[in-house]
Amino acid sequence: MTDLLTVARHGNTVEIEMNRQDKKNAITSDMYAVMADAIEQAEADTSVRSVLISGAGSAFSAGNDLQDFLAGSMDDEPPVLRFLRAIASASVPLVAAVQGPAVGIGATMLLHCEHVVAAEDAVLQFPFVSMALVPEAGSSLLLPRVTGYLRAAHILLTGEKLDAVRSLDLGLVSRVVPVGEQVSAAREFTDGVAGQPPAAVRLTKRLLRDDTAGLDGRIGTELELFQERLRSPEFVEAVTAFMEKRDPNFDAAPASD
Ligand code: COA
Repeated sequence: MTDLLTVARHGNTVEIEMNRQDKKNAITSDMYAVMADAIEQAEADTSVRSVLISGAGSAFSAGNDLQDFLAGSMDDEPPVLRFLRAIASASVPLVAAVQGPAVGIGATMLLHCEHVVAAEDAVLQFPFVSMALVPEAGSSLLLPRVTGYLRAAHILLTGEKLDAVRSLDLGLVSRVVPVGEQVSAAREFTDGVAGQPPAAVRLTKRLLRDDTAGLDGRIGTELELFQERLRSPEFVEAVTAFMEKRDPNFDAAPASD
């Protein structure tokens, strides 16, 4: 369905590697669909002990493909929603190995993981407001729980870039390793989990995630607002400015936007 990522079994772990290096692993609808399939299948297969998500090349992911946004990829029931529901409801542990930029959904998907390894060059960014959008993937609910309200407000309202050490301090990543070692370090965790009693692992994850009642509803509410924002003049200016490699000018957007 897409050659922009691979799904492979590594022992008892399902490993998903995004591989769209020329676009910094920006995620297309086809990629979401394949990732959703892989996670749904891993969830149904009790022999799978964890799912490891990584990105090939110099970036983890530049987030949702911006051209896809412009082309209306978020209309109706978009594949990204199936992907989000899969990661938000999974009882199989999710693990990420991050290097370079992890932007937008490349950062918010980490909030759904049980273990995140960051290479020293990792930079997390949640630039939804900067792109005239609103947070997604339940991040408006999950991020304040991880960082505390004021830090989450700062991260979301300013779009600040968080390097690996700051991400570790904030509790957004589990450990920092030299560049190139993030996948092998993540496998140390997946190998450890694979040796644990599998039913106890999945039940414990369910308990850990149990205080996220309302997560599914929040993902839906965020999506409705997100879809509205994609049709706004502010978003068109933000994405046009990115493509034209210039600063956006939001003063020109109508005040009623
Ligand atoms: N969607 C589509 N294409 C993207 C993309 C995205 N989200 N992010 C990057 N690209 C493309 C760029 O347009 C560029 O394409 P080109 O070579 O045809 O010009 C290519 O990927 C490389 O990107 P570039 O910006 O030159 O790389 P960089 O190393 O300087 O910066 C990022 C990497 C990820 C920090 C930067 O590309 C970025 O901020 N991207 C936008 C992220 C974003 O806003 N995501 C959505 C959030 S809701």
